[in-house]
Amino acid sequence: MATIRLGDEAPNFNAKTTEGDINFHDWLGDSWGILFSHPADYTPVCTTELGTVAKYKEEFDKRNVKVVALSVDGLDSHKGWIGDINETQGTTVNFPIIADEDRKVSELYDMIHPNADSKLTVRSVFVIGDDKKVKLIITYPASTGRNFDELLRVIDSLQLTAYHKVATPANWNNGEDVVVSPAIATEDIPSMFPKGHKVVKPYLRTTPQPNLD
Ligand code: BEZ
Repeated sequence: MATIRLGDEAPNFNAKTTEGDINFHDWLGDSWGILFSHPADYTPVCTTELGTVAKYKEEFDKRNVKVVALSVDGLDSHKGWIGDINETQGTTVNFPIIADEDRKVSELYDMIHPNADSKLTVRSVFVIGDDKKVKLIITYPASTGRNFDELLRVIDSLQLTAYHKVATPANWNNGEDVVVSPAIATEDIPSMFPKGHKVVKPYLRTTPQPNLD
């Protein structure tokens, strides 16, 4: 297992999923992607997480993001559990879940942290860009369910900063002012950011979010 770092190409793999066999890169196509692991099927926090992801499908679609979940449970287990998720979370699971019984993908992506649990995956999240590069890695322990609003927020930031020479400040939300990239000289800002800007310090320049009307 090699360490995966930001900017690396997301390792490719073939896997069995609840929506059929996939080749990860082919399945991603031109989309952005989220690959996320959960510790085990038929567990309470995971049930709420997968139900939440199903409810956010429209938000992921708007951002051209495909989502795939993973645990080391088998396909029959996943398929039975989906019934419980749909029933208890009032949703329809609408994304594939990888059955990684041989732990091939878990090991490739370092999702098993032996000092936390020797057999089960932790709550890993990998956001992958449309160039197949890893853009974000977050790891949560089994006892803490993820905040999927935060995932949408960081995807908004990742997609904005991929296409515009800006960065997003602390606690930024879509629609708020952003920071001009330090690589841009202050005298070049007016032509590049015609909506206006403020120079708070020579290294801290803000501007309205450039990709909004
Ligand atoms: C859960 O999803 O609720 C869970 C899974 C493994 C350990 C602790 C909680």
